[in-house]
Amino acid sequence: MAFPTETVYGLGANALDPHAVARIFAAKGRPTDHPLICHIASADDLAPLVAEVTPLAQALADAFWPGPLTLVLPRSAAVPDAVTGGRDTVAVRVPDHPLALELLRAFGGPVAAPSANRFGRPSPTRANDVRDELGDTVDVILDGGPCAIGVESTVLDLTSNPPQVLRPGGVSVEQIEAVIGPVDGASGPARAPGMLEAHYAPGARVEVVSADAAAARAADLTAAGTSVALLAADVISPLPDSVLVLGPAGAPDAYAALLYTAFRRADAARCQVIVAVPPPAHGIGVAVRDRLARAAASS
Ligand code: TXA
Ligand code: MG
Repeated sequence: MAFPTETVYGLGANALDPHAVARIFAAKGRPTDHPLICHIASADDLAPLVAEVTPLAQALADAFWPGPLTLVLPRSAAVPDAVTGGRDTVAVRVPDHPLALELLRAFGGPVAAPSANRFGRPSPTRANDVRDELGDTVDVILDGGPCAIGVESTVLDLTSNPPQVLRPGGVSVEQIEAVIGPVDGASGPARAPGMLEAHYAPGARVEVVSADAAAARAADLTAAGTSVALLAADVISPLPDSVLVLGPAGAPDAYAALLYTAFRRADAARCQVIVAVPPPAHGIGVAVRDRLARAAASS
């Protein structure tokens, strides 16, 4: 079953049933050693899944749940290998979406759910995107409208000291540090297992350029007969008439909410290249820049 969260749509199954979890990997075409996030209805449901609810985990849960922060902790024996890819840790979060919370409460247990896209593709942020990604392999899609945040949750590893951001996402490093002090922020290459350098990619090639260079690059590509889409926070001009303008995306929050639907619009219009100007590297802008860089690396 696919369901909405505040970040992206997830493809869920009973986290405690290895057979149900195996069906997620089959539907996504995802390698089975890539671990999944367990979604729970409230922080009270964390204890059975982990070795210990540490004060640090409790402080973060109090501050950010429900919300786009995933905590990685030593797992309990209740969590099957199918969910963790055989690791001794488990990733858990409480999503901030009324339908997701209703589903989790009604189900009464943890739901393992990756983003509801085919492996390597952009995450779906609308119910129709899930249908386009997974077709008939998903039996039910709960339609909760467009996802408010639009990029995935921040994954924070609490097993290292200081805690380490494995994937930048909906909660910023600044927000986390305001609660627990310094963390090791995500800057370099992929850290989360299964988080590849190349990922989140549309069909079109993504080129990341500066705002100053964007108009000229779009013009050069167009002159060479390439169909171009442009994604930037601000208005870029002048542009050839044929360029599909996917923005202006505006502030980083709005940019994040638009990002994956912009990728899909470019693909629907059969654009060959998306010229993208990244947002500034603060707040959720860090996550947007990360996804743009990974999409570009896939091209
Ligand atoms: O916003 C989200 O997090 C969405 C919604 C549906 O909740 N889910 C999502 O799941 O993005 P997925 O499977 O596409 O990404 C899960 C991320 C991966 O980068 C994975 O490596 C990391 O979480 N992860 C999961 N379990 C882990 C573990 N035990 N240790 C380290 N990283 C883990
Ligand atoms: Mg994903």
